Amino acid sequence: MTKLGIIGAMQVEVETLVSQLKNKTVTQKAGSSFYEGTLEDLPVVVVQCGVGKVNAALCVQILCDCFAVTHIVNTGVAGSLCADLDIGDLVVSQDAMYHDFDCSVINENYAVGQVPGLNVLAFPANDALIGYAFAAAESENPGHTKIGRVASGDQFVCQKSQKEQIVHVTGALCTEMEGAGIAQTAYRNKIPYVIIRAISDKADDTAEMDYPTFETIAAHRCAKVTTNLARQLYEAENAN
Ligand code: ADE
Repeated sequence: MTKLGIIGAMQVEVETLVSQLKNKTVTQKAGSSFYEGTLEDLPVVVVQCGVGKVNAALCVQILCDCFAVTHIVNTGVAGSLCADLDIGDLVVSQDAMYHDFDCSVINENYAVGQVPGLNVLAFPANDALIGYAFAAAESENPGHTKIGRVASGDQFVCQKSQKEQIVHVTGALCTEMEGAGIAQTAYRNKIPYVIIRAISDKADDTAEMDYPTFETIAAHRCAKVTTNLARQLYEAENAN
């Protein structure tokens, strides 16, 4: 039976989801609150993991080991890396990779972003979840969703030169601070995942101004898309 783990870094990214849960219980682990319940009748566990790749990864491992989730969705905001993606637009991950992981200097076979010992550069998201997420995003904001790569690093990107370097290295559509950590942990646990992100800023010199202005609206939009995805997952499983 499907049990969906839903992860957001910040309170604003999970608060509306937690408030929608029915039959809610809460468990504390590693400093995070894990909220179990049903969302649109689907069994889910929602957690605010905190900012950054390590916080994100450890919460995915807890979701796998202690809550036996079968699928993972990461919801939240991101900086746009693409001229066609404006504030409020949505990104669904095709895959996710690091922009700040670099072992290329010790071994020329490692591309920038590649984790030694893992045979992928970018961790692929699950096709079925991509389909549900795209349909959900399109119904919330028609014509404003792209499917593509998400680039993650432990940096808030707010300079044009930094943005251009990340685009050069990754070819990603957006940048944030958790997605690839979630993707890597899901990959190692063989759990299907998808990232859904709403654009809060352009990850350039305007980001410091735009981010606080648009964070809440973007985060809540993304949470709405996640609720819609949960409904679709429930309906797919209970179709007969
Ligand atoms: N999340 C939202 N905007 C971001 C940015 N510009 N850099 C990193 N993470 C973000």
